Amino acid sequence: MIELDYNNLMASKVGRHGLNDNDLDKGRPFVMDAIERLQGERDRGERPYLDLPDQDLTDILKFVEERQGQYDDLLILGIGGSALGTIALRTALCAPHHNSLSKSRRKGALRLHVLDHVDPVWVTRTLKMLKPQRTLVNVISKSGTTAETMSQYLLVREWLESKVDDVRDHFVFTTDPEKGLLRRLSNDHGIPAFSIPDGVGGRFSVFTPVGLLPAAFAGIDIKALLQGAKTMTDRGLLPQLGANPSATMALTHMLLNRERGKSISVWMPYTLSLRDVADWYRQLWAESLGKRYGEGGQEVFAGQTPAKSLGVTDQHSQVQLYVEGPNDKIVTFLSVKRFGTRGRLPEDPTGEGSLAYLGGASLQKLTEAERQGTEIALTRAERPNCHLILPRINEEAVGGLLQMTMIQTSLAGYLLGIDPYDQPGVEYGKIATFARMGREGFTDELEVMKPFLSRKSRYVCR
Ligand code: PA5
Repeated sequence: MIELDYNNLMASKVGRHGLNDNDLDKGRPFVMDAIERLQGERDRGERPYLDLPDQDLTDILKFVEERQGQYDDLLILGIGGSALGTIALRTALCAPHHNSLSKSRRKGALRLHVLDHVDPVWVTRTLKMLKPQRTLVNVISKSGTTAETMSQYLLVREWLESKVDDVRDHFVFTTDPEKGLLRRLSNDHGIPAFSIPDGVGGRFSVFTPVGLLPAAFAGIDIKALLQGAKTMTDRGLLPQLGANPSATMALTHMLLNRERGKSISVWMPYTLSLRDVADWYRQLWAESLGKRYGEGGQEVFAGQTPAKSLGVTDQHSQVQLYVEGPNDKIVTFLSVKRFGTRGRLPEDPTGEGSLAYLGGASLQKLTEAERQGTEIALTRAERPNCHLILPRINEEAVGGLLQMTMIQTSLAGYLLGIDPYDQPGVEYGKIATFARMGREGFTDELEVMKPFLSRKSRYVCR
């Protein structure tokens, strides 16, 4: 059961920077309307991400079972919503240093590599490190047009063609059920392909084959993952703030943003396992809520800037700013009640005394003490913060956390009066890239881009 403690978002703890019961009472009907809207959309089949926990996993599990023994490595080509969920699941649910463990210690699971960039050095070196004959490449792109993913596809195809008999044994696509280049290539050349259901956008797609296929190959229990997601779907649609962390997070964050100027939301996990879940959240919150126009077409410039920090590491990097800098943030701690191991500390053998407080304690206790220390420092300085507590890091809890956060994002979007499912702001950058790369149909844009490309040397430092 995931718990949310939001005491420190309240005025009783952080003074005028927090909310009071009156604020919550005023906001409650709006968030209840948002829940009703989301439920209505689900009933009409317009929010398929909510029903993914009930999907039939037979095809994915069968494919993994049949193919697993043929490979050592799974290479993912994808970016944004087609990559961040997989990275988050790998860090959270694979054993630490998964890719460095022997196959037997990985219990036959594949090593998992995600190329979500086009840095030529890193891409080339990644391919050098892998054996094409023992690698399965999962190309993930809903549109099948993303320049980063498709350029990697070209490169990897050539790499495979030079070394394997039949590239079809080394590719699997995850893409639109009907449209796009990857679907065409799959149909024309018999390359196996999984579908991203209609109506599920990239950043809401972690429970489609986008996230599930790599997770299953990496040894993650995807049934348990969906079980956790199902539990949090039910909770996320409950019409009571007290039992619904998605609605409570959405409402408190939107109120604090609008009424108290808290324009930044920091996710600060106190377990390394959730480090990349914070990165996944950053995309979800930013791309879903950062919008120029409201649903009625009026300018709103909405959004709350997400940031990620890692406890305890970033106590030595970011916390000074959070405690004493501008009071414009909400910090969300994420912690785990029980780590798999406590990390008991030995007594200090020097007997010198200054380390005596650590002797016989544990790394688990130290981690929680440090989290509490940061929480208290923030609260004393009247900085709103809240705490999401997972019972353990396992598939059910992580699946629940991700689904809870997607529902929170939908509800926050409705509270803001924007469409949380589109991303018009990233489109122009893509058009400009295509134009610069000389893609047919886009080169007229070069003229429009000219004033933005010309540089005056007066304004360059060398
Ligand atoms: O969340 C999103 O919609 C985006 O981040 C996309 O996932 C990203 O742009 C990649 O798109 P595609 O899957 O079409 O290659």
